[in-house]
Amino acid sequence: MPFVFTFKKFLFSAINSVKSKSKMGRKFRWGIIGLGKIANKFAQDIQLIPNAEVYAVASSSKERAKAFAEKYQATLAFGSYEAISKCEELDAIYIATPHIGHCENTLMCLENKIPVLCEKPFAMNTREVKMMIESAKQNDTFLMEALWTQFIPAYQKMQRVIRKGMIGEVINLRADFSFPAPFLPEQRAYNRDLGGGALLDIGIYPVFFALSILGKPEKIKAIATFGKTNVDESCFMIFKYPDDQMAILDCSFKVKTNVEAYIYGEEGSIYLPTRFHHPTRMSVQLYSGESHDISIPYQGNGYYHEAIEVMNCIKEGKKESDLMPLNQSMNLIETLDWVRKEAGIVYPKFD
Ligand SMILES: NC(=O)c1ccc[n+]([C@@H]2O[C@H](COP(=O)([O-])OP(=O)(O)OC[C@H]3O[C@@H](n4cnc5c(N)ncnc54)[C@H](OP(=O)(O)O)[C@@H]3O)[C@@H](O)[C@H]2O)c1
Repeated sequence: MPFVFTFKKFLFSAINSVKSKSKMGRKFRWGIIGLGKIANKFAQDIQLIPNAEVYAVASSSKERAKAFAEKYQATLAFGSYEAISKCEELDAIYIATPHIGHCENTLMCLENKIPVLCEKPFAMNTREVKMMIESAKQNDTFLMEALWTQFIPAYQKMQRVIRKGMIGEVINLRADFSFPAPFLPEQRAYNRDLGGGALLDIGIYPVFFALSILGKPEKIKAIATFGKTNVDESCFMIFKYPDDQMAILDCSFKVKTNVEAYIYGEEGSIYLPTRFHHPTRMSVQLYSGESHDISIPYQGNGYYHEAIEVMNCIKEGKKESDLMPLNQSMNLIETLDWVRKEAGIVYPKFD
């Protein structure tokens, strides 16, 4: 058995080395699956990267694929997701379908050994995310969740300021993300069959914010309200941590909030103004009276940075990102599942 395993690894690396030689001197070829709103924003950012191109796109409609390909000068337009997942000319595929498609679409690409960047939430639940990670390992192929916040330069700066101890030990966090989403019951946000609801769509950002600063909580209190289509329209959460830190987080499709975040430490606080999940500014306020305003812009729509991370990882032969490792995606989905359990948020077709 160990011999078979070693031989398989040898075979994979030999194939990869031949493949990488044939890639030298050309642009990084992105594929995109699911050509809706976010796919357009991502494609716009790929156009800003000199050594990258949108090479192939796939839609459930051949016509939409052709129109999208024309808009972003893509070479290939597929009328099915399966067809693009077999396209050996690609260096990576970005999955931008509704949440319910993430697991299936990711597995399809990984099984054909195509690296994957998959939109958030990584999948509908922990069980699905486990399957995706296992498949990435079995196929020795790169996989990363497109949690763009983690790659935004000002967000990374905020993490460095905390790590350096500028505000001392972190004690409390607050973050909100609400906007009045128009009630269109057939569309993604309010459609439970498509994984609709505020928590998985926008509440994931406050949850990720808490996770990226304090890790996984030891206790969660959460409560949600439900509308006509039975999706959570608002969800409020309190997380408590082993060292008595707390996080207060909320999201809603019913109201407009500032979409900002605060981190309170023993010696000062950090404020991320709207929208905290792709910040360009932050202010650090020390209780001594000292204060710092920091501005760091991001490129394009902000998706540029996660795309660069994927390209760098693949160039270096990595199978996951150090900045957004797969165990962080596991922590995130486990925390979301826990919130859902507390708040009674259920997806009958997936639970
Ligand atoms: N990172 C971010 O900032 C961000 C922002 C928005 C959304 N997202 C995430 O990206 C994903 C897509 O969001 P979106 O706003 O782009 O959605 P969208 O505009 O509704 O587009 C989703 C696309 O997925 C395809 N699709 C496949 N199965 C579908 C189905 N059963 N019903 C509807 N469409 C289906 C369709 O493309 P084809 O017809 O071309 O196949 C559709 O255009 C979501 O998981 C969301 O959480 C992330």
